[in-house]
Amino acid sequence: MKPKTPSQSEVTMSELVLPNDTNLLGNLIGGRLMYWMDIAGALVASRHSNRVVATVSIDNITFKHPVRMGEMVIIKAKLIYTGTTSMSVLVKVYAENLKSGNTILTNQAKMVFVALDEAGVPVPVPPLVPQTEEEKELYEEERQKRLAFKK
Ligand SMILES: CC(C)(COP(=O)(O)OP(=O)(O)OC[C@H]1O[C@@H](n2cnc3c(N)ncnc32)[C@H](O)[C@@H]1OP(=O)(O)O)[C@@H](O)C(=O)NCCC(=O)NCCS
Repeated sequence: MKPKTPSQSEVTMSELVLPNDTNLLGNLIGGRLMYWMDIAGALVASRHSNRVVATVSIDNITFKHPVRMGEMVIIKAKLIYTGTTSMSVLVKVYAENLKSGNTILTNQAKMVFVALDEAGVPVPVPPLVPQTEEEKELYEEERQKRLAFKK
């Protein structure tokens, strides 16, 4: 299979936080944000593999700052590692205040997706070739984690 670079499948998704997305304090509900993060991650994995994908794991998500109603949520998702049938995606969430223009990083998570065929059976994905120093570091870090996971 032809190798691909992380930038070939990168996704940036933007959402406006509306009243229906918030709790009684006007802050974005965690579950809604996790849904958007899952979609962004799945888009990256589908783009890379050109397959239907399933989420198999999400590492811990911390909520560092509340996101307020009326703010823009920007989700940047990028492939950092591929196994045989699995793909690790780093998902970063930013909140942009549209009045001040200030943007802060509010969340980050790593998600693993598996490419599936029409019968739902895992299938191999194209290898990932990291290009930048940062991409190479993230790839190696994830490779080590996966080795530890398989032990
Ligand atoms: C996806 C699924 C078909 C994979 O089946 P499986 O029997 O676990 O298949 P495998 O054991 O061959 O694992 C497939 C790959 O996922 C990886 N994997 C499985 N569980 C993992 C985990 N918790 N973390 C990281 N990687 C994992 C395996 O290492 C393997 O990677 P590789 O092929 O790159 O080496 C099956 O787990 C499934 O249907 N899960 C439910 C998916 C779902 O419904 N998601 C939505 C949840 S709300």
